[in-house]
Amino acid sequence: MVTFTDLYAEYGVKSPHDLFERLREERPLFQVELPNGVPLWFVTRYADCRAGLGDARLSNRIGTRIVSQDVLPAEIRSSMGTHMLRVDGTDHTRLRRLVSSVFTAKRIEHLRPMIEQMTSELLDRMAVREQPDAIHELAYPLPMQVICELLGVPVSDHQRFQAWSNAYLAGVGTANFPVDVVTEFVYYVRDLVKQKRAEPDDKLLSAMISARDNEDRLAENELTSMCFLLIIAGYETTVNLLGNGTAMLLADPELADRLRADHDAIPAAVEEFLRYESPVPGASFRVATETLELGGQTVQEGELVLISLLSANRDEQSFPDSMAFEADRTPNPHMAFGYGMHYCLGAPLARLEAEIAFRQLLERFPKMERKDPSAELRWRPGLVMRGLTELPVTLNQ
Ligand code: HEM
Repeated sequence: MVTFTDLYAEYGVKSPHDLFERLREERPLFQVELPNGVPLWFVTRYADCRAGLGDARLSNRIGTRIVSQDVLPAEIRSSMGTHMLRVDGTDHTRLRRLVSSVFTAKRIEHLRPMIEQMTSELLDRMAVREQPDAIHELAYPLPMQVICELLGVPVSDHQRFQAWSNAYLAGVGTANFPVDVVTEFVYYVRDLVKQKRAEPDDKLLSAMISARDNEDRLAENELTSMCFLLIIAGYETTVNLLGNGTAMLLADPELADRLRADHDAIPAAVEEFLRYESPVPGASFRVATETLELGGQTVQEGELVLISLLSANRDEQSFPDSMAFEADRTPNPHMAFGYGMHYCLGAPLARLEAEIAFRQLLERFPKMERKDPSAELRWRPGLVMRGLTELPVTLNQ
C-alpha cells in the first residue's frame, strides 16, 4: 500500500498543498499507509470531507485502534482517551455539555481584557529580545497562558506542557509513539486533579471536579481525559494559527498595512488564515461502524478514515481561486474548526486570541520583518499539526 512519502516522491512535490491538489483531482478517496503501517482511507475533496464529518456511521470511537497507542498501558490510555473527541452520540453530548457553557462566544468575550494584557506583556518581552522569534515569543506562550488561566493550572508549568504536547503530537501515527511522555503527562494531570480537589478555586478544572463530585457526572478517567484534551486541543492548534498568520502577514506588507488601518478587517483575515494554512490539517481518525459509500468508494466496516481539512479548505470546487489568499473572502465556509457534532468547542476562544494577537502585533511592530525573508519556512514534523517550528524576525523599532 502506498505511503505519504511514496506520494510526495511520485508526484515530485514537497508541499502538502501541491500533493493534495493532485490527489483531489486524481485520487479523491484512496487507501494510504501511515508511517507506523496502519492503513486508512484518505479523503481530500471538500464535499466528501463534509459528508464524512456529518456521517454518524463514521465514529470517533476508535478505541485501541488508535494509531500506535495500543502500546500504552490500558489505565494510561483510559486517562487520556476518554474524552468527547473519542466518543459519539449521547456520551458525547453529556461530556460536551459539561464544559460548553464556558466556551460560548459571550463568555469568551469576557476574557478579552485578560488576553489583551497577556499579549501586551509578551510583546513587551519580545521588544527587548536580541533575537526575537514570533513563534517562541508570542505564538507559543499566549495560548498556553490562556488555557492555563482558564483551567486554573500553574503558569509556571508552561515549559513542561509545551515539551509534552509537542512530543505527543509529533508521535501520533508514527512508529515511535512517546509512551513515557504521555505517561508523565497523565500523572501530572492526575496530581493536578488531586490538588484542586483539596484546594478548589473558581476556575474550570475545579468546576469540572465539583460537577463530578456533586452529581456524579464525570468519572475520574473522563476528568483527566477532559483536561488532557483541553490542553492539547486548546494549545498547539492556536499556536499554529498565530504562527501561520504572522508568517502570512510578514509575507504581504500591503495586507499588513491594510489591516493596521482597518482593525475591523482582521476577523475576516483570520478566517482566511484558518482556511489557507489550516492549523489542524486533519480531523481526528474515524472508524466505519458499517460498510458505506463515500466519494465513490466503498469503505468497509472497521476501516479507518482520515479527513483532510487542509485539503478540503483548498478545494477549487468550493473556494473560487482556492490557491489565492484573499483576506476578505466571503463567503468563507472553511472547515478549519471541523464540521458537525465535533465542531471545535474552542473556536470563539481561538478567534478572540488571534484577533487580539494580530492587532497588537501590527500596532506594536509596524516595521517587523522576517529575519531572513528568503529562507524557506520550516514546518513542524508529524501528521497532526500544520504550523511553523520557528519564525525569526527583526523588529526594526
Ligand atoms: C485555531 C485553533 C483551533 C483549531 C484550528 C481547532 C480545530 C479543531 C477541529 C478541527 C476540531 C474537530 C476535530 C474532529 O472533528 O475530529 C476541534 C475540536 C475540538 N476543539 Fe478545537 N481547535 C482550535 C482551538 C481550540 C481551543 C482554543 C480549544 C479549547 C480551549 C479547543 C477545544 C476543542 C475541543 C474540546 C474539541 C472537541 C469537540 C467535540 O468533540 O465535540 N480547540 N478543534
